[in-house]
Amino acid sequence: MSSSWSWFIVIGTVLSLAACFWLIAWTNRQRATDKEIKESESHVWDENIRELNNPLPMWWLWLFVLTIVWSAFYLIYYPGMGSFAGVGNWSQEQQYADEVAAAESKYAPIFAQYGATDIAELANDPAALSIGASLFSNYCAQCHGSGALGARGFPNLTDDEWLWGGAPAQIEHSIVAGRGGVMPALATIFASDEEIDAMVAYVRAMPDGLDASSPAHGKYMTLCIACHGPTGAGNQVLGAPSLVDDIWLYGSSPYEIRKSIIEGRNGIMPANGELLGPDRSRILAAYVYSLSNR
Ligand code: HEC
Ligand code: HEC
Repeated sequence: MSSSWSWFIVIGTVLSLAACFWLIAWTNRQRATDKEIKESESHVWDENIRELNNPLPMWWLWLFVLTIVWSAFYLIYYPGMGSFAGVGNWSQEQQYADEVAAAESKYAPIFAQYGATDIAELANDPAALSIGASLFSNYCAQCHGSGALGARGFPNLTDDEWLWGGAPAQIEHSIVAGRGGVMPALATIFASDEEIDAMVAYVRAMPDGLDASSPAHGKYMTLCIACHGPTGAGNQVLGAPSLVDDIWLYGSSPYEIRKSIIEGRNGIMPANGELLGPDRSRILAAYVYSLSNR
């Protein structure tokens, strides 16, 4: 906050408090005089109910005064006066950090026990899986979906098809260290648009078997084979997807396949090891493992 804004807030706050105080004092002075009581005879209802311009009852006014005094102490102790931090040194961030630390010390022993358990075994522990499910909705669902079913560019984690491998250790590695798929942009290897079209058609037909009579077959066998494999089954070491399983990360339309080939794709799974720590990463690995191994 710039210092002029800070002063603006300080002055505004002090003036408002002073104005409140003045208002209370002012209303308190307006006691009805005898003359007014006489005059008010004309404002009588039901014979004995009279209208007078009297101040608020004293106990009521004192409540207001107390509120103002309270606010003064509050503004000295807590931050509120512009950029003055308050003598109590309280801050939202510190309170949050304290609460996190308290939760951490409460749950760390439970998590540590899970962290020392085998992933496949943990995947059969309902208590661990329920923690895994809530961790997943906090840290993973924004990309993989709340049911882990994935979306375009974000793999489905509930099926048996894996970019990087579905064994417990491979899943844990994906979570802890992250993954980066590199499908190079290959536009320059094609001499003409027709050659690209042929490759697109060839790739789209791959789930039905590799068509050796296609003009694109030779190119596949020299250029794509290194990553996607001689049968098109992919390579989990490189995160290269199978092209024969009819599951498409980016879509199977000619437009998307073409884009994958000529522009390349670079799916990034962020590394979570530092954020989550080893124990929570393990619980999540067990949860993800359980999704396709029920
Ligand atoms: C910012 C988006 C994002 C977030 C958040 C994210 N992921 Fe991913 N994840 C991806 C992408 C994209 C891939 C695919 C990477 C690729 O294309 O190679 C992926 C891949 C994976 C894989 C490997 C899948 C396979 O087929 O081999 C696993 C396992 C995984 N994520 C689990 C998780 C878990 C558990 C979390 C929560 C801690 C998480 N992800 C959070 C984007 C995300
Ligand atoms: C250097 C390794 C490499 C080479 C060479 C390579 N690819 Fe890929 N390809 C990948 C990887 C890795 C991905 C996944 C990218 C990601 O996860 O974002 C991929 C993704 C794709 C996709 C998208 C698949 C989907 O599920 O949406 C298509 C289509 C594809 N490649 C076709 C080809 C074709 C055709 C060739 C040869 C002309 C080729 N690739 C060459 C590594 C490679």
